[in-house]
This record gives sequence, structure tokens and C-alpha cells, in this order.
Amino acid sequence: MAVNHFLDLSDAGGDAIAAMLADAQDRKAARAGWPKGKPDADAPLAGHVLAMIFEKNSTRTRASFDIAMRQLGGSALILDSGTSQLGRGESIADTARVLSRMADAIMIRTDDHVKAEELAHYASVPVINGLTDRSHPCQIVADLLTMVEQGKALPGLELAWLGDGNNVLHSILEAAGIFKFNVRVGTPQGYEPETEFVEMARAGGAQVTLTKNAAEAAEGADIVVTDTWVSMGQEHVHNKLAAMEPFRVDEKLMARAKPDARFLHCLPAHVGDEVSSGVFESPQSVVFDEAENRIHAQKSILLWCHGKL
Ligand code: CP
Ligand code: NVA
Repeated sequence: MAVNHFLDLSDAGGDAIAAMLADAQDRKAARAGWPKGKPDADAPLAGHVLAMIFEKNSTRTRASFDIAMRQLGGSALILDSGTSQLGRGESIADTARVLSRMADAIMIRTDDHVKAEELAHYASVPVINGLTDRSHPCQIVADLLTMVEQGKALPGLELAWLGDGNNVLHSILEAAGIFKFNVRVGTPQGYEPETEFVEMARAGGAQVTLTKNAAEAAEGADIVVTDTWVSMGQEHVHNKLAAMEPFRVDEKLMARAKPDARFLHCLPAHVGDEVSSGVFESPQSVVFDEAENRIHAQKSILLWCHGKL
């Protein structure tokens, strides 16, 4: 039987992601005010274990997957490259086969996307991409949930991305093609997203504008999104910060968006760099709803992976 891996949004597709968003909203509402570790009434993943592999740092992904599993009635464990045999050269193939015998699903956060693909190839349980250098699909399910919660209809929505054309933007572009919203990408020369993702969005019916003009990208937007200018593993890239300066989301840039526009950031934020303190702390900023929604989104992703959605 085919295994439901979630390496990118297209592994699930539009109908399944729409079902995830609906399920996440229902489950979130049903447990409002409950202690955060208390299982949902139906505990749909009771007895299930998620193994999480971290080859990069994490706060939100780590905490939200762990708490998501508790709320679904299951549990999670963490392996990192510093203390597991992965750090001493044990192969991904063997790690996949061992963890498939011990856990019901595997999440991996790593650098090269090929490693996540190799893990999925050798695993006999679902593998979830918890961020690679190429994409961050779990983040975008939480972002879509946040947009919907804020009353935004996805088809035809205008989303402005400012700054670095990175892994998070790639998954936004993939979502744009699936849900037919438009993306205005404002990046400095040389920091554009990979063409493959722009073409994927356009092939799905999204309008994608690539511009070097931050104001043009932000003009009339429903949603304004940015991310760190320096992603994990890119710390060696020099002269990048100076190129990014015109793309900071500050009050002046945010004023170009619609008056009821919302600001999203996957976090961690570098306030003063990619976003001003004024925008980050403003009522338009829903970044902490977005962070909380990682739990609710993750639960629906996990249920889909287990064939329970
Ligand atoms: N947004 C996100 O993935 O955060 P972490 O790096 O803290 O997991
Ligand atoms: N683009 C960032 C996202 C962190 C959640 C990174 O890859 O470091």
C-alpha cells in the first residue's frame, strides 16, 4: 500500500490540504481553553509514536510536533545529529529502515532535500518534511490556516513576499498554484526563488510577479510575508544584508498594502532587519497566531499521513 509521505504540499494536493485546514479549525475550536497537553476527545493517534530527526535547530517545529502528537493521543521522540549515529555517518537508508520498525511516522529537518527524499524512499512509514533548504510545507499549512482564520479567501488573494527567495517562499509558491492565489515577490537581484517553483505556481493558475521594487510588491496586498534574510546554513553568505535593506517590511511599506492586510512571519524573526519593530508588534501582525497554528496544522498533516483524514 502506498505510504502518505509529506515532503511537499503537492504530495497531498488541494483536496487533502483543504481537508487539513477544515480539520485543524474544528479540532482547534473543540479544545479551546483546554490544557495544551490534554488529548483530543477522540485521541485518533493513540499509541502512535513519531520519530523526529533534527539536523538543524528548531523551536516551533520541535515543540509543535511533540505537542501535536500528545493532543492526538500519541507521543514523539527526538534524534539529533549531535547525539545519534547519523552524526557518525550511519546512512539515511539504514536509519529509515530502523526507525520504520520503531515508530509510526518520521519527521526530518535537514539541509539537502535529497536526504528527506532518500529517507522516504527507504522508510515503510510516512516521512514528513520539517524543513529542508528547498521547502517548508508544514509551515505553509499553518500559514494558510492563519490566513483563513483571518477571514481571507485563498483564491484570488494577493500575497506579497519581501526579502530572500528562500525555502518558505518556495512552499508559498507551491500553495499559490494549488489554491490559485497571486504572489508578488520582491527580492534583490540574485535572491529570487527557484524558477521551478515560480513555474509550478503559474502552471496551477496563480499570477506570480517578480520585482526588484519592494513598494510594487507590497502595493494592494492582502497578506505581507517575510522571513529571515539569512536562513540556517547560509551564515557564510556575505554582502547579503546590504542588498536586503530596501526589502525590510516597515510601516511605510506596510502602508502600501490594503488597510486590513495582515503580516505573517514564520519566525524566528530578526526585528530591525527583515521587519521593523513597529510592524512586528502592530495589530496587523498575526505572527503568534501563526506560530500557535503550527500545532493545529501539524495535527491534520499527521492524520493525513496516517490515512485518518
Ligand atoms: N518556523 C519554524 O519552522 O520555526 P523553528 O525553526 O523554530 O522550528
Ligand atoms: N528560511 C528559514 C526558515 C526558518 C524556520 C531557514 O531556513 O532558516
